[in-house]
Amino acid sequence: MKIRLFLISLIVNILSFQLWADEGMWLLPLLKQQRLAEMQAIGLKLQDYDIYHPDSSSLKDAVVVFGSGCTGEVVSSNGLVLTNHHCGYSWIQQQSSLAHDYLTDGFWAMTKEQELPNPGLTVTFIEKIEDVSDYVLSHLKQDPDSTGMNFLSPKYLNNLAKEKIGQAFLQEHIGVEVEIKPFYGGNQYFMFTKKIYSDVRLVGAPPSSIGKFGADTDNWMWPRHTGDFSVFRIYADANGDPAPYATTNVPLHPKRWFKISAQGIEDNDFAMMIGFPGRTYKYYTSWEVAERRDVDNTVRINIRNLRQEAMLEEMLKDPAIRIQYASKYAGSTNAYKNAIGMNWAINKHDLEQVKREEQEKLILWSKQSDKPEYPKALQALEWIVSARKDLRFRSWMLDEALSRGIEFTSAPVNLNALIDALNGTDKAKQEEQIRFFTTAANRFFNKNYSPETDMKIAKVMLKEYRSIIPASSQPTYFARIDKQYKGDIDRFVEAIFKQSIFGSETNFNAFIKHPTVKALEKDPMLLFAKSVQDERAAITAALSEFDTDYASAHHDYVKGLLEMYGDRANFPDANSTLRLTYGQKKGYSPRDADYYLSQTTLEGVMEKEDPDNWEFVVPQHLKDLYAAKDFGAYCLKDGRMPVAFTATTHSTGGNSGSPVLNNKGELVGINFDRNWEGVGGDLQYLPDYQRSIIVDIRYVLFIIDKYAGAVHLLNEMDME
Ligand code: ARG
Ligand code: ASP
Repeated sequence: MKIRLFLISLIVNILSFQLWADEGMWLLPLLKQQRLAEMQAIGLKLQDYDIYHPDSSSLKDAVVVFGSGCTGEVVSSNGLVLTNHHCGYSWIQQQSSLAHDYLTDGFWAMTKEQELPNPGLTVTFIEKIEDVSDYVLSHLKQDPDSTGMNFLSPKYLNNLAKEKIGQAFLQEHIGVEVEIKPFYGGNQYFMFTKKIYSDVRLVGAPPSSIGKFGADTDNWMWPRHTGDFSVFRIYADANGDPAPYATTNVPLHPKRWFKISAQGIEDNDFAMMIGFPGRTYKYYTSWEVAERRDVDNTVRINIRNLRQEAMLEEMLKDPAIRIQYASKYAGSTNAYKNAIGMNWAINKHDLEQVKREEQEKLILWSKQSDKPEYPKALQALEWIVSARKDLRFRSWMLDEALSRGIEFTSAPVNLNALIDALNGTDKAKQEEQIRFFTTAANRFFNKNYSPETDMKIAKVMLKEYRSIIPASSQPTYFARIDKQYKGDIDRFVEAIFKQSIFGSETNFNAFIKHPTVKALEKDPMLLFAKSVQDERAAITAALSEFDTDYASAHHDYVKGLLEMYGDRANFPDANSTLRLTYGQKKGYSPRDADYYLSQTTLEGVMEKEDPDNWEFVVPQHLKDLYAAKDFGAYCLKDGRMPVAFTATTHSTGGNSGSPVLNNKGELVGINFDRNWEGVGGDLQYLPDYQRSIIVDIRYVLFIIDKYAGAVHLLNEMDME
C-alpha cells in the first residue's frame, strides 16, 4: 500500500512538473524555494535577494502600483516613473480640452514647473511582505464568525493587519498602510506594508497616434506597433514622505530605480516581469470554465457589441464627444475583446476538459489517500454552479445592459436626507444637502457626459434587455414603460430626458435654483434608476446566498490540489499583489503554417499608416525621423528601429506598465498587453499561444529623445 501511494504521488509530481516552464505568477518571498533554479537555468544572472530582499534594497523597491489598476517603475533618482500610455490615459484626458488636447498632441514638461498635478492619482510602494498565515489562522480559530466569510474578508483581514502592526506605527509613518491578503483560496496569508504617495505629476506623454497607435483594432493583437508609455514623477515633502499636492513638495528620492539597457534582448533570451497582476482563475473547475464561457463572456460579447456600435457612431460624428467618450469606449472594447479571446481559447484548448482531468486526478488521489473532503468540495462546486445559473445570467444581463450600459442608471437615488432637508426650514442644511446631491450627480453628470449619447445607447440597451429577459424578471419600473408608453422604448427614453433633472444641464440648473421635493419624487429618470439599482441589490443578495458554500468548497479544492502536487509547483491565483513572472523572448504560430516573429519595428508603423483612419494616423514628425533614419543609438544592429516585442511571461490585466527586465535586472521594456489568443491564460497558461506584448525600451527612449526632444529626462536615467 505504501509503495502504491508513493508511486501515485511520484506520477502526480512528474505530471505536475510538466507544467510549462514559463507558467506562473510567483510570490517574491517564495521565489528561492519555488523557482530560482529554473530561472537561473534559462539565463538569470541574479540571486533571489537581488530581486527581493526582506531587509534591504532590491529590485522590487523600484516597482510601484500606478493608480489603482496598473504597474509602474521608477527610473531615476528623482522619482521619475514609467508606465503605459493607457494607464496614464484617464489622467491625460483630465488635463485635456479642445484648446490643449494632450491626448491628440502629446504633452512634454520641459521643466519641473511644467509638470502637471493629478489630484486622486497615487503611486504605491511595497515596503515589506510577510507570511502571516499562522497569525491569521489562529485568529480565525478564536473567531465566532457567523458569516463564514471572514477568512476571505478584506475588512476582517485588514483589521488584523492593523492590530498586528499597531496604531502607533501607522501614526508615526505617514502614508503607510497595511493589508493582509488571502492566497490559494485562503490557505495562506501574506501581509503587505505599503507606502502611498499622492502627489504624482504628469511629465510626458506621446500623442495618441504613437501611444495608442492601432487603438482598438490592434488592441490584444500581435504584431503590434504601439508606443504605449507615459512618464510621471513622484513628489514628496522635504522628508521624502507622502504629502498631498503642494508647490513646496520636491521630487522623491527613491530607495531604488531601474538601470536601463538599450542593448535589447534576442530570441530565447531570458526576460522577467515584476508587477501587480489583477485576477486569474487557475483554480476554476470545469463547471466554472463553462459558466464563464456560456454566461459571463457570452452576455458581455453580445451587449457590448451593440453598445459600442451606438457609442462609436456618436464619437465619429462629433470631436467633442470623441474626447468625452474616448476612455469609456476604450474600457468597454478592452474587456469585450478579452471575452472573445478567452472563449476562443476555452474551445481551442478544451479547457473544460483540461480542468476535468485535473479534478479526476484529485478524486483518484483522494480515494487512495483517504481524503473524502476533496471530492465533496468538487460536488459542492458542481452543484453551486448549476444552482446559480439563472441568477448569474440575469445578473450579467442587468450589469452589462443597464447598470454599466446606461450611464444615468447610476444617478443618485438615496434622497431621504435631501428630501428631509427640503421639507424642513433649516437653510444651511438644505444648502449642504444640495451640495452633496450635486457632488453625487457629478460622478456621471460631468464634463465627460453627453446626454445625447447616453440617450441613444439607452434605447439600444433597453430594447435588447427586454427582448431577452422575461417581464417577470425585469426591474419593476419596466411595467410603466408598457402602461404609459405602450412599450415604445424610444418614446420612453426621450420623454424621461425631457422631464428629468438629469436630462440636460438646463434642467439640472433649473432644479438647483428651485429645488422641490415634488420634482425629486416624480422624476422618471430617478425612479427608473432606483428600480434598476433595487434589482441589482436583489440579485446580489440572492447570489450571495451561495458565497459561503462556494468559498469553503473552493478553499478545500485548492487545498487538495496543493496537497496532491506539493506547493512547490503551484503559484496562487493573481490578486493584485506583487508577483514575478519569467520566460523568454519568443514569437508564436497563430495558426497552421504561419509564424509571428517576436520583434516589430518602425517599418510596421509605416506599413499600417492610414491617414483616413484615426486609429492608424502617423504623425508627420515620426515620418520625418523614419525617412532620415534618425534613430540615434536606439536602433537594431541592422539599422531598423525596434517598437515592441513578445515574451512567454505569464501576465494578466494589472501587469500593464510592468517593467520587463533582462537577465541582469536591467529595464528592456514596458509590458502593455497580451495577444488575444493568449488571454485564456487567465484560466490555464497556454505555452503555444500566450505572449506578453511589451514596448521596447529603445522605442520609448527614441520617442523621448528624438520625437519629443525631452533630453533632460534621459539625462536623469542610468543607461547601461
Ligand atoms: N488590452 C490592454 C489591457 O488590457 C490595453 C488596453 C488599453 N488599450 C485600448 N485600446 N483599450 O489593458
Ligand atoms: N493590458 C493589460 C493591462 O492593462 C495587460 C494584460 O491584460 O495583459 O493590465
